[in-house]
Amino acid sequence: MRDAGVKRQSERRRVRVARPTGFCFGVERAIRLARDGQAKHGRVFTLGELVHNPSVLDELEREGIRAVKRVEQCRGGALVIRAHGAPPEVADRCRELGITMIDATCPYVGKVQSVARRLKSQGYAVVVVGEKNHPEVRSILGFSGDAGRVYSPRMRLRSPKVGVVAQTTTSHPRLREAVANLNRLRYTELRVFDTICEEVTARQRAAARLAAVCDLVVVVGGRSSANTSRLAEIVRDAGAEMVHVERASELPRERLARCRRVGVVAGSSTPAWVVSEVADFVRNPDKEDRTDV
Ligand code: F3S
Repeated sequence: MRDAGVKRQSERRRVRVARPTGFCFGVERAIRLARDGQAKHGRVFTLGELVHNPSVLDELEREGIRAVKRVEQCRGGALVIRAHGAPPEVADRCRELGITMIDATCPYVGKVQSVARRLKSQGYAVVVVGEKNHPEVRSILGFSGDAGRVYSPRMRLRSPKVGVVAQTTTSHPRLREAVANLNRLRYTELRVFDTICEEVTARQRAAARLAAVCDLVVVVGGRSSANTSRLAEIVRDAGAEMVHVERASELPRERLARCRRVGVVAGSSTPAWVVSEVADFVRNPDKEDRTDV
């Protein structure tokens, strides 16, 4: 039987779901291109996971769209380059092996790659502000050739000309801090390109707003998703209570029972249905007919 006290509590709980939510344009486009490729070529592989979200990956795998780690593992069919992009050597290798390549690089990531390539050709050292081992950063470095470096506070560059680009999912405070540090080193020329995705910034702002007014903020998205992890970091840094989940079934009922105002914010590779599932659970954690727990 449902506990009447808990029921009253959950009825009074206010749930605010941050906007934007659901897939961003780049992720939606990559999934569409992979599905179109599957329909056209019969078999499609993705170089690395198409999105950092286990639910979506399971769904794609059921449709026959599988991730491979190396180009050479693609046997027949076509190879999809995900929204993070890939270094130019991948396209060369596909040509060598006669593999059809479907380029689903997000156009915003493509823009960072072309800025990096242009800076290199103009003799700049290219500094990428982002996570060293993230696939997007590796793809940008690929376009920077030997001129590319990932930003670190201790870096010292020989080149007098330095160009800075940002991983699309990094935050403005991180970019500003990097630029301020590089400025202190007094290079002859320092050019900065703010290549952070607007969609990412909008979600980060929404996360900060929720952190200011909620007792608990639920961050929804894959644990290996860079932009989702950044949202979690923003909420934590704001001093708010935070829980990071991939699915509603991971939500802590007891903790929810103590909270009146709960915010929900999701990374750009989290499907809208997962966000709805989480928001629904937060509203009614004690719902008896729940099948997802
Ligand atoms: Fe592209 Fe921005 Fe999404 S860079 S993949 S639209 S988060």
